[in-house]
Amino acid sequence: MATVAAGCALAVAGCGDDESSGGSGGGGGGGGSEPGKVAVLLPDSKSSVRWETVDRPFLAEAFKAAGVEATIQNAEGDKATQQQQAEQAITNGAKVLLLVNLDSGSGAAIAANAKSQDVKVIDYDRLTLDTDATDYYVSFDNERVGELQGQGLVDCIGDKQGARIAVLNGSPTDNNATLFKNGYDSVINPKFEDGEWTEVADQSVPDWDNQQALTIFEQMLQKADNKVDGVLAANDGLGNAAISALKQRKLPQIPVTGQDATLEGIQNIVNGDQCMTVYKAIKKEADAAAELAIALAKGEEPTAKTTPIDNGTEKVPSVLLEPVSVTKDNITEYLGEPDFPTKEDICAGKTAAKCKELGI
Ligand code: BGC
Repeated sequence: MATVAAGCALAVAGCGDDESSGGSGGGGGGGGSEPGKVAVLLPDSKSSVRWETVDRPFLAEAFKAAGVEATIQNAEGDKATQQQQAEQAITNGAKVLLLVNLDSGSGAAIAANAKSQDVKVIDYDRLTLDTDATDYYVSFDNERVGELQGQGLVDCIGDKQGARIAVLNGSPTDNNATLFKNGYDSVINPKFEDGEWTEVADQSVPDWDNQQALTIFEQMLQKADNKVDGVLAANDGLGNAAISALKQRKLPQIPVTGQDATLEGIQNIVNGDQCMTVYKAIKKEADAAAELAIALAKGEEPTAKTTPIDNGTEKVPSVLLEPVSVTKDNITEYLGEPDFPTKEDICAGKTAAKCKELGI
């Protein structure tokens, strides 16, 4: 993962490019690329580094290992682009779409078009609401992700009375952001209601855009007269935006939450700027989705154990994995996981001394 991440950082444009993997090779002769049997549609590369640095390589690896042709494309946040990518993939012979939607409306349109052409659709990580055209959903228990964030903040704030909390939610168009919020609200709202904590702000960040998060959080600080004691940030990118704003104002470190166990997030934890992140074993998610896609692409009945999740229109057979909470005290437990940042990367440069202090 570390190598792939570095490659993407060096050539960001290349990261969003179409990629083919697997298949039996140049059986079709000539120079043309083989039609993909599975098409993966990633959402963007900025709302979280996970899509390009973790999901893409592990999905590519899984399809390659199975000898199934797959193309992986990134819509870079553009719904029309994603729609075109889906249509093009189907034209090129894709029999299965693995879709990370940009919102439920555009996702449902992609799924309906696919269904009309007998192409299967797997919702990858984000559930598409109100559609009868998706076949499977693979993700994490996302309310649980939110609960871990809420509990993480509670633990980091400790017994400080009257803590002033700012909340940075994910994109309102992402069903996951709703689930995360349901999860953390169930933990932190009682604190606001009983007057133990005060909520100074609660705002959603459109498209999970880290740049907008910075502006939003600066305004939150401005309005709160810099008096903020903790931030519930829905992922590491939003958390880092809050941390940057605090640093710009030379304010002291306060508990900030996150999600995705990104290299930046883990380093922020080691440096004391962030109090926790949620680690989701993305390789397991990629493998579970690939396994379903491969079976469907071969016309087989998938054997995975599923649970039904209601998307508003119908119950979608789903595979949901368990997230875990990571703080400075248990980082070492996850070092060595294939989708967790490496010790070398975490403890590089300025972070080295802090790693030593923490025994990492
Ligand atoms: C994913 C998170 C990610 C966020 C922004 C969510 O749907 O579950 O892992 O941080 O989107 O891309």
